Amino acid sequence: MMKYLKIRYLLLTFAIVLFSNGAAAAELGKTHKNAGIGCADCHGNRKPSEAAPMFACIQCHDTKKLADTTKDIEPTNPHQNRHNGTETNCNTCHHQHKPSENACIGCHERWEFKKLP
Ligand code: HEC
Ligand code: HEC
Ligand code: HEC
Ligand code: HEC
Repeated sequence: MMKYLKIRYLLLTFAIVLFSNGAAAAELGKTHKNAGIGCADCHGNRKPSEAAPMFACIQCHDTKKLADTTKDIEPTNPHQNRHNGTETNCNTCHHQHKPSENACIGCHERWEFKKLP
């Protein structure tokens, strides 16, 4: 629980830093929209009011395949790690309605990804 809270805190701090730097718009939301994916595909049939769960993502994206696709990415495979294997919550890095963020850099200071859709 403490570990979880600590990570949440780091993410929050990082999100604030990103916003104050005026990062780019939420491109991933547009990518999904252009691919014909609607609100209900991620949020279910109720009116969306909170974050969609990771479960929604993995209905379309296979975590094992994904980890394989990005196995050679530097500085580290974003889709497979020592903490959570292939099951790190997608939404800690990828965002749909705001700029994405690097959820590892709070602790792994030198791990910058070249791109993060
Ligand atoms: C209904 C199926 C579906 C769901 C649900 C879905 N995706 Fe996708 N996603 C796609 C498709 C299709 C593409 C490819 C779009 C393209 O390349 O034109 C894609 C592309 C992506 C990309 C790559 C974008 C790029 O620019 O390379 C990321 C990252 C991604 N999805 C993350 C997520 C996350 C995180 C979730 C859960 C919140 C999610 N997806 C939910 C179908 C889905
Ligand atoms: C540690 C942050 C992080 C997490 C967590 C994460 N991703 Fe990614 N994702 C990335 C980065 C960085 C890239 C870009 C890799 C590259 O340079 O091609 C990427 C790329 C992708 C792509 C495009 C892959 C391609 O073929 O080019 C998809 C789809 C994707 N992520 C989906 C997901 C899904 C689904 C999850 C949850 C199971 C997830 N990601 C979790 C950081 C993350
Ligand atoms: C690809 C999956 C996906 C799709 C499609 C999607 N959302 Fe979301 N939504 C999320 C995720 C994940 C979050 C958590 C915040 C984030 O990542 O931007 C979220 C958060 C929200 C929230 C809570 C407020 C917030 O920003 O955190 C609302 C409201 C919302 N979405 C509405 C919508 C509506 C309306 C649509 C259709 C026009 C839509 N979403 C389409 C994944 C999705
Ligand atoms: C709360 C701090 C924290 C966060 C956030 C964090 N890590 Fe770590 N990570 C550590 C610590 C501490 C170690 C060294 C101890 C160990 O190996 O378990 C480590 C070790 C690792 C290792 C093995 C050692 C190495 O340097 O190769 C990998 C791989 C890794 N982390 C990946 C990730 C990825 C990917 C993310 C983002 C999804 C992430 N970590 C987020 C603290 C963190």
